[in-house]
Parts: sequence; C-alpha cells; structure tokens
Amino acid sequence: MTQTNLYDLSGRCALVTGGARGIGLEIARLLQSFGAEVILADVNETQAAAAAQDLGPGASGVALDVTDPVAVEALAAQLGDRVAILVNNAGISRAAPTDQTRDEDWRAVVSVNLDGVFWCCRAFGTRMAARGRGTIVNIGSMSGQIVIQDTVVTAYNAAKAGVHMLSKSLACEWAQSGVRVNAVAPAFIETDMTGTYPPKTAQKWRDLTPMGRYGQPTEVAAAVHFLASDAASYITGTVLNVDGGYTSW
Ligand SMILES: NC(=O)c1ccc[n+]([C@@H]2O[C@H](COP(=O)([O-])OP(=O)(O)OC[C@H]3O[C@@H](n4cnc5c(N)ncnc54)[C@H](O)[C@@H]3O)[C@@H](O)[C@H]2O)c1
Repeated sequence: MTQTNLYDLSGRCALVTGGARGIGLEIARLLQSFGAEVILADVNETQAAAAAQDLGPGASGVALDVTDPVAVEALAAQLGDRVAILVNNAGISRAAPTDQTRDEDWRAVVSVNLDGVFWCCRAFGTRMAARGRGTIVNIGSMSGQIVIQDTVVTAYNAAKAGVHMLSKSLACEWAQSGVRVNAVAPAFIETDMTGTYPPKTAQKWRDLTPMGRYGQPTEVAAAVHFLASDAASYITGTVLNVDGGYTSW
C-alpha cells in the first residue's frame, strides 16, 4: 500500500446513521468524496432521500430508527455484507434538571444515543467480524468526558460516556476479527442541534474554547474519515477529541 491511497475509500460502502443533516451529512459527503458509496440511514426518511439526491450517484437514503433493534437487524440483513464502514452518528439531546426529567425523556435520550449505537454495532459489526474486515466510528461527545456549564443534559452526558466505553469494549472484543471500533468526541459544532442555544451562553462556550470558536461539521467529518480509513489501521478503541482544545483547559 502506498502513502497516497491510505485515505482512499473506493469500493467501500459506508452507512451513516442520522445522515440526513448536520454532522452526519457532512461525514457522508466527505466519505463519498474519497470514493465510498454512502447510505444515509435516518428516522427522517424524506430528508435522508433529499440529502442523498443532493449527494448524487453513489448515495442513497434509507429509513431507519436506530432505537428499534428489529429494524436495525432487518436493515443489516437486507444490506448483507455490503457495509464496510459504519458511522453511528444519530443523536438527540434534551435539557432538563433531574427533578423535571420525565421517564420518557431519559429513555428517549439513552435510547437514541446509546442503545441505538449498540443495536447498530451488534447488527453490522457482527457481520463485519464474520467477514474479517470492517470499521466502526461512533460519534460520542466531550459531554461523555466533562460536564458543560450552563446546561443540564444529564442523560445525554451519561449516554455519551457509555458510547465511549462501548467503543473501547467492542474494539477489544473484535480486535482479532479485523474490525476496528473508535469514537470521535466533538465539542460545540455549528448545527441545528447547537443553533438553539441563547447567544450569551453560546458566547460563553466560545470563550471557554481555547480556539475561540465553534467547530464545523466538516471538521468532525475529517476525523471520522481518518479513523475509517486505512491510515488508522493500527488505531482501535480510541476516543478522538475534536474540540478546539475545550477539554484541555
Ligand atoms: N452539534 C454538536 O455540537 C455536537 C457536539 C457533540 C456531539 N454531537 C453529536 O453528533 C451527532 C450529530 O449531531 P448533529 O448536531 O448533526 O445533530 P442534528 O440534530 O443536526 O442531526 C441528527 C440527525 O439524527 C437523526 N436522528 C435522530 N433520531 C434518530 C433515530 N432514532 N434514528 C435515526 N436517526 C435519528 C435526525 O433525524 C437528524 O438527521 C449526534 O450524535 C450528537 O450527539 C454533536
């Protein structure tokens, strides 16, 4: 293998959950630009289909609710051995103090952010392990490592910490089966998810970031691409921070 093609993904199929918009869509766009066929799997089927059409040939959209293990398994069975790269990106956040957190809020956040990652890893990763090749990148968060000031997202924090440890556990379990499992932990990234924060709070968070700005979805995508590519062939079980230095201060 030459140095120049370590990043090439030609002939590989990548499935990105939550790929209809935001970070997931930029991940799909970047993987596609390096030659991968991309499948945008999203609970919002219409938006996934539109996004796939926008990406053009080699991209497709598919309906998937990652919280439904039966649907996840059915999709993995339908796609068979095609998926070589799995990016577990689908995620939601709900802010509320603990005494105001309803059972259904806790369940929804843990269900999408942690259960869904496990269902997808189990369905697609087991097939990769049987084939002896594949790579998984899970989108965690700096919230899986530190508690951010001025917002109370306890379920989200706990779920993302779970994603990091799930990634390490599966990395070890499948290390000798040719499947690498890693996580990317972004800080504040400019998407619909962060667009709703009050300007004063957003400015405070920017000020707490050594680089002094939010990240862009493309900057998360670049980290995912690296971990998914052969350039990261000896990297498994790692959590790569993409945070402008936020967790270093
Ligand atoms: N934006 C940030 O600042 C930031 C920071 C750290 C981590 N993250 C993580 O990055 C990931 C993407 O975040 P984003 O900002 O692009 O969010 P977003 O809200 O813009 O997009 C999330 C996508 O996931 C899809 N989705 C939601 N529930 C789903 C389900 N049950 N099944 C399948 N798809 C579902 C949505 O339809 C949407 O297309 C999430 O895991 C998020 O927790 C984001």
